[in-house]
Amino acid sequence: MTQDDLKKLAAARALEFVRPGMRLGLGTGSTAKHFVDLLGARVAGGLGVICVSTSEVTEAQARALAIPMSTLDETPELDLTIDGADELDAELRLIKGGGAALLREKIVAAASARMIVIADDSKLVDTLGRFPLPIEVVPFGLEATRRAVLAAIASAGASGELVLRRKPDGSVLLTDGGHYILDAHLGVITRPEALSAALAVIPGVVEHGLFIGFATAAILASGTGLTVLGTLE
Ligand code: A5P
Repeated sequence: MTQDDLKKLAAARALEFVRPGMRLGLGTGSTAKHFVDLLGARVAGGLGVICVSTSEVTEAQARALAIPMSTLDETPELDLTIDGADELDAELRLIKGGGAALLREKIVAAASARMIVIADDSKLVDTLGRFPLPIEVVPFGLEATRRAVLAAIASAGASGELVLRRKPDGSVLLTDGGHYILDAHLGVITRPEALSAALAVIPGVVEHGLFIGFATAAILASGTGLTVLGTLE
């Protein structure tokens, strides 16, 4: 099985927890894309749900599949969000934002009673940090914010390079919210809660990719089958 097959397997399992009438958050990324495709087929077959997306890309995909879409203004409380992750540990702490959608992903996850993470099992790590931590910042004052972020990282006992994310053509990547992303190459994050708290109070930081206390379960697919962390229902 390819890694993409594994992602689809995890997405298909998550679909089993969608019930008629649910208000759903739809994640972003290649794994969430499989989930949205599968959900679209179920909606075409008559399943009634209302969904909120976490990015413009997912919004377009869902609308193309005729999935009924809403916003958090119209539907501020969601029953379940299904989303991927760039990395997770056994305590369901996540790194997200590899697809630059971390801000909307965290807002949607926070509005959701439950969050199921879907991934292939390569995303599970003993210690977070191998995947560069995305930190979304406002363009104004970038250098000052960069220095404050480095100080916050040091205060949490970590260190590493901060890289301004660019598009393949070399231009600076802008998020759906019009912000920049600094990717923090830390290697290991031994105190994720401390780092999360330190980053959250920096004025120029809009959001960061540590998701702590959001995921209620994870479905991880490997060549030998599915593993579940947390509580699915
Ligand atoms: C999007 O910003 C990310 O948080 C994605 O959820 C994450 O990058 C996972 O993507 P894949 O499912 O493509 O690995």
